[in-house]
Amino acid sequence: MILLPGDGIGPEITEPAVQVLEAVGAGLEFERHLFGGASIDAFGTPLTDDTLAVCREADAVLLAAVGGPKWDQAAAADPSFPRPEQGLLGLRKRLGLFANLRPVRPLPALYGASPLKRELIERVDLLVVRELTGGIYFGEKSRTAERASDLCAYSRPEIERIARVAFGAARSRVTSVDKANVLETSRLWREVVHEVHAAEFPNIELEHLLVDNAAMRLVAAPRHFDVILTENMFGDILSDEAAMLTGSIGMLPSASLGEQGPGLFEPVHGSAPDIAGTGAANPLAMILSAAMMLRHGLAMEAQAAAIESAVDRALDEGLRTPDLGGGDTTVAATQAVLKHL
Ligand code: IPM
Ligand code: MG
Repeated sequence: MILLPGDGIGPEITEPAVQVLEAVGAGLEFERHLFGGASIDAFGTPLTDDTLAVCREADAVLLAAVGGPKWDQAAAADPSFPRPEQGLLGLRKRLGLFANLRPVRPLPALYGASPLKRELIERVDLLVVRELTGGIYFGEKSRTAERASDLCAYSRPEIERIARVAFGAARSRVTSVDKANVLETSRLWREVVHEVHAAEFPNIELEHLLVDNAAMRLVAAPRHFDVILTENMFGDILSDEAAMLTGSIGMLPSASLGEQGPGLFEPVHGSAPDIAGTGAANPLAMILSAAMMLRHGLAMEAQAAAIESAVDRALDEGLRTPDLGGGDTTVAATQAVLKHL
């Protein structure tokens, strides 16, 4: 499998994931490649042809995070300068990873770490299914000194395939989130989701929510949600919001899957340049992303579950990195998880 440590805290949280994967006996071979800003520094591009080719051939790809102020400043000064994020979007697109799964399951040990009241987050267990290769992220862009535009487009097949993933993952209900009172893409989205539901998943409940209302309900009544199905940018925003139900964005893993080929597994959080190099990064989202890789990418359910339960038990025992209100370091957090494996 391919490891893309990327930038900022990326390398610091990648090694913990490798240690955990080795300890659980997954029998994997690791190949590390520069990606994002690190790849720009070395090769002038965030995603080299070589890295793309090895990712295509791999069984799975585990990515930490990309980006940082250094490259933001370079791109602001010279718009032709590549951005680390282009590498990530390019990799998702080129591997056809249209389905991004972001499970949000606050652990009882962390109820106190969330800014939300305990009675709101108890027993929350939801999944954000985010469309990942379409919408405004990938539409045509234009820019002059006076005007800029980003096109948001969706086609029927793009909506159908992500809707199937969401209905397939739902236990009881899919909440499809759009802005159909304003956006034409959302009106098509609603229509197609409705059709897929009626034709293929009549036993699952379907509701449609406008994105502003969904954002409100996510903090007012999060237990209401089972699967949230939404387009690329709304999914980006709502998944950061949903992360706070678990206490910290440092807790949320994700899986990005296509019709075939390797999946990409990455924490929802970014490269956290402000804490890079301080030893304070929370490695748990990355470790949990490694577990998702074992489950969804490599058919190793038992090992995935073992990692998740080791994380639970470490937190039960009091493990808290600074983002969770504690003082444990990345190394201490990793040791605590390894101890329970
Ligand atoms: C995410 C991130 C990325 C996104 C950025 C880094 C381009 O925020 O995976 O949620 O917006 O998709
Ligand atoms: Mg995001």
